[in-house]
Amino acid sequence: MRFKVAVLGATGMVGQKFIQLLENHPWFEISALAASEKRVGKPYGEEVNWLVSANVPECVRDMEMVPMDPKHVDADIVFSALPSNVAREVEAAFAKEGFVVASNASAFRMEEDVPLVIPEVNPDHLQLVETQKKKRGWDGFIVTNPNCTTIMLVISLKPLMDLGLKTVRVASMQALSGAGYPGVPSMAITDNVIPFIKGEEEKVETEPLKLLGKFDGKKVNPAPIKVSASCHRVPVIDGHTEAVWVEFDRDVSVEEAIAAFESLKPLDLPTSPEKVIIVRSEPDRPQPRLDRDEGNGMSVVVGRVRKDSNGLKYIVMGHNTVRGAAGASILNAELMAKNGMI
Ligand SMILES: NC(=O)c1ccc[n+]([C@@H]2O[C@H](COP(=O)([O-])OP(=O)(O)OC[C@H]3O[C@@H](n4cnc5c(N)ncnc54)[C@H](OP(=O)(O)O)[C@@H]3O)[C@@H](O)[C@H]2O)c1
Repeated sequence: MRFKVAVLGATGMVGQKFIQLLENHPWFEISALAASEKRVGKPYGEEVNWLVSANVPECVRDMEMVPMDPKHVDADIVFSALPSNVAREVEAAFAKEGFVVASNASAFRMEEDVPLVIPEVNPDHLQLVETQKKKRGWDGFIVTNPNCTTIMLVISLKPLMDLGLKTVRVASMQALSGAGYPGVPSMAITDNVIPFIKGEEEKVETEPLKLLGKFDGKKVNPAPIKVSASCHRVPVIDGHTEAVWVEFDRDVSVEEAIAAFESLKPLDLPTSPEKVIIVRSEPDRPQPRLDRDEGNGMSVVVGRVRKDSNGLKYIVMGHNTVRGAAGASILNAELMAKNGMI
C-alpha cells in the first residue's frame, strides 16, 4: 500500500510537523507541497523557516512548491494545515475535484455532514462522508480532526463516558506552537500567562459533544454532557496541559477511573502509539517538557487523578502539533486507508 499525499500550508508550524511525520511513513509518500502564492515554483527548502528539527528532510528540500489548486496537485490524500478562513474555500475545491482531504482547520469541523474524528474515539463517524458526498455533489470528501486542546481532553473523556460522565470543567495551559509561527510575540509571553485565546473556549466546549456523540446511521447526536472551558497561553514551546474536573451520575472511584483510562485500546495503524493514555502516579506529572514525546508524541499522559467534592479531577497533557494536529490527521488518513476509503 503506497499513497501519494500533498500538504497544504506546508511552511507553517503544523505543515512542518506533517513533513517530519511523513518523512519515513510506510504507506504515504509526499508528492506535493503548497503554501501561499508567493512561494509557487520555489524549492521548499529555500522557502521554509524550518523549526522542528536540525535540517529540512531531503525528500522535500528541492521540491518545487505548487499552487493551491486541485489542477496542480497530484495526490490521493491532501493534508490541510491552512488557516481556517483559507481552508473553507480551498478544502472544498479539493473535495469537489475528488480528493480525500484530511484537515486540521476548524472551517468544516462542526458541519453536520463532515466527520470530526479521533480514530480511538469515534471511528464510526467516518461513515458521514457518504452523506457529505451526496449532499454536496462532491467526488471526494473532507474529514477533520479536532482542535488541539479538544483532542487531549476528549481522549481522556472517552473512557469516562461509560462511567456515567455528566459535566466537565477544564482549564488549559497551552503551548506557544499552538498559535502557529511566529505566533505570540516573545515580549508578550516571556515571564507571563495570557488568559485568553480567541475562539478557543467555544471550540473546546462544543467539539467534544460531537466527538462523543452517537452516529445513528445518518447524523451524529451530540453527547448529553456539558463542557465548560477556560483557555490560557503559557510560555511552553510544545505540549498542552489541561486541568480537568469531571462529575458523574454516580460515585466513581479513582481506581475505576484509572482502570478506564488504561483500557482505551490502541489501533493497529503505523502512527498509533502502543498506549493511547499513559497514567502517571507521581504527584508532579505529567509535565510537557518530560512527557510530550511519549508514544512519539501520540500518547496522551494523565496524572494526579484524585477525588474532588463533586467527582474527580486530573491533569491531561499531550503534544499539540503531533497528537493535537499533524499526527491526528495522519492517523485519520491511515484509518481511512485501512478501511478502503481512499
Ligand atoms: N499549531 C497547532 O498546534 C494546531 C493544532 C491544531 C490545529 N491547528 C490548525 O492548523 C492550521 C495551521 O496552523 P499552524 O499553527 O501551522 O499555522 P501557521 O504556522 O500560521 O501556518 C499557516 C500555513 O498556511 C499558509 N497560508 C497562510 N495564509 C495563506 C493563504 N492566504 N493562502 C495560502 N496559504 C496560506 C502559510 O503559508 P506561508 O508560509 O506561505 O504564509 C503556512 O504554510 C490552522 O487552521 C490551525 O488552527 C493548529
